[in-house]
Amino acid sequence: MQQPRFEELDWNLMYQRARQEKSWKSKGAADWDRKADSFAERTERSVYTEKFLALLRPRKNWSVLDVGCGPGTLALPLARRVERVTALDFSGRMLDILKERAARAHLGNITTCHAGWGDDWQTLGIGRHDIAIASRSLAVADLGAALEQLSRHARCRVVITDRVRHGPFDPDAFAAVGRLLQPGPDFIYTVNLLYRMGYLPTVEYIVLEEEMVYRSLEDAVESYRWMFRDLRAEEEKRLQKYVRSITTSADNGSLVLRRIHVPTWAFISWRP
Ligand SMILES: C[S@@+](CC[C@H](N)C(=O)[O-])C[C@H]1O[C@@H](n2cnc3c(N)ncnc32)[C@H](O)[C@@H]1O
Repeated sequence: MQQPRFEELDWNLMYQRARQEKSWKSKGAADWDRKADSFAERTERSVYTEKFLALLRPRKNWSVLDVGCGPGTLALPLARRVERVTALDFSGRMLDILKERAARAHLGNITTCHAGWGDDWQTLGIGRHDIAIASRSLAVADLGAALEQLSRHARCRVVITDRVRHGPFDPDAFAAVGRLLQPGPDFIYTVNLLYRMGYLPTVEYIVLEEEMVYRSLEDAVESYRWMFRDLRAEEEKRLQKYVRSITTSADNGSLVLRRIHVPTWAFISWRP
């Protein structure tokens, strides 16, 4: 079979095809509303934020647009370091948590916007910002359109983080449960698409913690359940057994979970 030439490859189409084959179902706003509280708690102590900010190197005079901001993982620490932040998300519950946290921290320079990638940002009055970011929030059907949308709303730089290989899913947990993990397209599609769109993306990597600490086995199992939809009783038992096999008790009574496949995020940035 004749190999296609690089110029003939349609990375947006290939991304869409790979998305159709993924084993997890895309989440809508209502799904994220339900997940918001546990997501906020789980991500509060992660090294992700610190590593993201170290790579971003925020400047005092920046305005930042944070798309898919969630509970304020980045919008809140950024608000302390830059002039102003516009935090956009289609999950009302995520925005409520962000607002509660901002009020508690007396941060008055965050504007929230309850909207999604598919909305008309011009009508919503979202203008250009110095920096546009989309952190772990690029789960969209039309990747090319989302990347263009971000680029149009940034003056100096666009920054996104995208999954590397299995992303936040644990392939060993899937094997233990007896399900096939098809993680869907990862960052390599995004980088190639950006290049084809005429941008020159820089790629760095954020590697998360190898070890996670939980209060109890139930907490640890719960942190794995979100990866699966509709676990049957037998699968639930296998998941519990797997989680037990990768945890050890610490002296203070907590549980230490050691991951073999550590989630890694690609930190991709480009000049708009
Ligand atoms: C994995 S969380 C990431 C949150 C935060 N940026 C972070 O890095 O911790 C994904 C976020 O993107 C939001 N999101 C997903 N699809 C979206 C869409 N189509 N429009 C707007 N927000 C979306 C979700 O509501 C959720 O808050």
